[in-house]
Amino acid sequence: MDNNIKNKVVVITGASSGLGEETARHLAERGAKLVLGARREDKLQEVVNEIIAKGGTALFRLTDVTDKAQVQALVDAAVVTYGKIDVLINNAGIMPIAPMSEVRTEEWDSMIDVNIKGLLYGIAAALPLFQKQESGHFINLGSVAGIKVFSPGGTVYSGTKYAVRAITEGLRHEVGRSIRTTTIEPGAVDSELKLSTNHKESSAGVNEFYEMAIPAASVARAIAFAIEQPADVDINEIVLRPTAQDF
Ligand SMILES: NC(=O)c1ccc[n+]([C@@H]2O[C@H](COP(=O)([O-])OP(=O)(O)OC[C@H]3O[C@@H](n4cnc5c(N)ncnc54)[C@H](OP(=O)(O)O)[C@@H]3O)[C@@H](O)[C@H]2O)c1
Repeated sequence: MDNNIKNKVVVITGASSGLGEETARHLAERGAKLVLGARREDKLQEVVNEIIAKGGTALFRLTDVTDKAQVQALVDAAVVTYGKIDVLINNAGIMPIAPMSEVRTEEWDSMIDVNIKGLLYGIAAALPLFQKQESGHFINLGSVAGIKVFSPGGTVYSGTKYAVRAITEGLRHEVGRSIRTTTIEPGAVDSELKLSTNHKESSAGVNEFYEMAIPAASVARAIAFAIEQPADVDINEIVLRPTAQDF
């Protein structure tokens, strides 16, 4: 099975549910060695057990991406255990939706801390290793909300996802000669993301919008596509949404 995924060491943040969890399974089936991070130990243990039971290779480290040292420890665990890191998937994210006029500054802070700063901590941890290896692949989870502002309600979330695109493109321009960078920009995908909204009216709207959501496996396939390309091909952006979605 020479698929350019087999034996790659792939670190995934936010691997305890949704896109991260499904991507871990999908890549493990294709022979990747997985290093999974998130805050929920029981969920991570379950995913790792399932992968190992099917003959795959995986471990997890409890990781809060808002803590720089924990993100570094996750990346270090990959190198200590498997000797290298080929791909970092900066996937952890939250989406508490509410109108700006609600002035939910704590939620704004959290979105910036997880969706932007958490991703930057991932880049900080892996970039020196990628540069030393003269190879590596950053896969960052943006969103269609990083292409078009999702308002009212998702303005700050959109801001964080515009930032993901900008950071990934700037990174590509700077280190792109040997290091690959991909922004994955999904529309509505079935996961726990919608549960991070607790503003009552917004939550109803989000739940209705997510009725058209496509399975997380659709994103896992897109991520695998980016990874399996030959080393001289860098898939920089993939936008995918439900066929029924207009936003
Ligand atoms: N679903 C969609 O429609 C959609 C569309 C576009 C983009 N995205 C993006 O896709 C990514 C994954 O989202 P999802 O849909 O799979 O949502 P999800 O099911 O809610 O998964 C989010 C993951 O992030 C983790 N996480 C949250 N805060 C964290 C923190 N502080 N430290 C470490 N991990 C943290 C969660 O794990 P713990 O709670 O265990 O820490 C969980 O594993 C996000 O970046 C999201 O913005 C999703």
